[in-house]
Amino acid sequence: MARAWFQSINPKNTAHYSLDEIIYRCPQTGSLLEVRHDMDELKKKSAMDWRTLFEERWRSQDKIDASGIWGKREWVLPDIPREHVVSLGEGASTLFSGSMLSKLFQHDALYVKLCGNSHTGSFKDLGMTVLVSQVNHLIKKGKPIRAIACASTGDTSAALAAYASYAGILSVILLPKNKISLAQLMQPIANGSLVLALDTDFDGCMKIVEELTLEKEIYLANSMNSLRVEGQKTVGIEVAQQLGWQLPDWFIIPGGNLGNVSALGAGLKMLYELKLVNSLPRIAVAQAQAANPLYQAYLKKFSTFSPITAKETAASAIRIGNPVSVEKAIRTLKEFNGVVEEATEVELKDTAALGDRAGLLVDPHTGVALAAFAKLKKAGVIKPNDSVCVVSTAHGLKFADFKVQYHSSASNALYKNSPIDLEATLGAVKDQVARFLDRK
Ligand SMILES: Cc1ncc(COP(=O)(O)O)c(C=O)c1O
Repeated sequence: MARAWFQSINPKNTAHYSLDEIIYRCPQTGSLLEVRHDMDELKKKSAMDWRTLFEERWRSQDKIDASGIWGKREWVLPDIPREHVVSLGEGASTLFSGSMLSKLFQHDALYVKLCGNSHTGSFKDLGMTVLVSQVNHLIKKGKPIRAIACASTGDTSAALAAYASYAGILSVILLPKNKISLAQLMQPIANGSLVLALDTDFDGCMKIVEELTLEKEIYLANSMNSLRVEGQKTVGIEVAQQLGWQLPDWFIIPGGNLGNVSALGAGLKMLYELKLVNSLPRIAVAQAQAANPLYQAYLKKFSTFSPITAKETAASAIRIGNPVSVEKAIRTLKEFNGVVEEATEVELKDTAALGDRAGLLVDPHTGVALAAFAKLKKAGVIKPNDSVCVVSTAHGLKFADFKVQYHSSASNALYKNSPIDLEATLGAVKDQVARFLDRK
């Protein structure tokens, strides 16, 4: 009997669908699906035994065990044969903290989970390893899948391109033209995907890819496919492990298409149900003010949700006005006594730069989350003694253009640090060093 299956998030339909079926929505209600696990089976192992097993596997010499995702495979995809797993060493990422971070943000227990320290530089690797592994498994079992496709604001396509080409599977990428960073555009091009730059926004690309993948020979890789959520849900589990099987009081996570917040919640709930932790944290979703449909719905206590046309933002990967996973996200926020906060462009840029001063390299989306943290703290929602984990979703190097602009000589940004062109003499250098050392 299968130990995991797809099930509708709509309680009206309780049917189980095999993970080997090519299905993305509930056939009866049209709602999204989620992967459900046989919790009674998982409960046969004690919390102590799970902890020990996960600790033994963390960074082991065995490639599958060492992956942050596959080291927890019984909670993710319990039935996949080991030889069908497609892993690039994802997860098990750094939980960053330090005295400078605490000092600059005036908060003692502040952590940043660096999900962008990964093969393609974003948290998308966590889910993509699961999805591509399952597709690889289906192909090996003889399903006629010819390619995997996604719409993307940049990071999903990078992850799909890398994992698919590693497994020898073709990938098709739909991107909104001129709306992603140069590094993100380069990634699927380099990996040999079919890259289609469409004259629309992400929501427009998403609509087309949903229709394209109705033909089952092209498999859908967006996070509405709940296999992705299974990998991404390990983030909270890793944080608990890194804090000695304790959870922080708060998680703050940037939100666009809203798959990731539901993934975070799903992992935390498993931890709690299997008794590896004894309390649940609160969750805050952070949105850019330019693309804030969830924030607007939150202000109305989620009584209604209206899609918007997202405007331009430096946090280009969350420039999404009609999030596919909104229903799941609202359910998660209700379960975790959650809140939603927004950040303006100035706030996200300055807060990202402040984080950099503590030794991070903050991408704009993590800038949104750090700015939301600062605002929630100022508003008294987050208390001075609360422990807080900000989920950093991408590596700053993927957004070098954002950093260069912030620090360019033309900018008047708060923490601007532009390079100084100088004649090549010891005197000139000494003079600049002295000024630098005397600066307050
Ligand atoms: C860097 C980055 N941060 C945050 C997000 C938001 O995640 P989600 O779309 O699951 O809300 C994305 C992806 O869309 C992303 O690429």
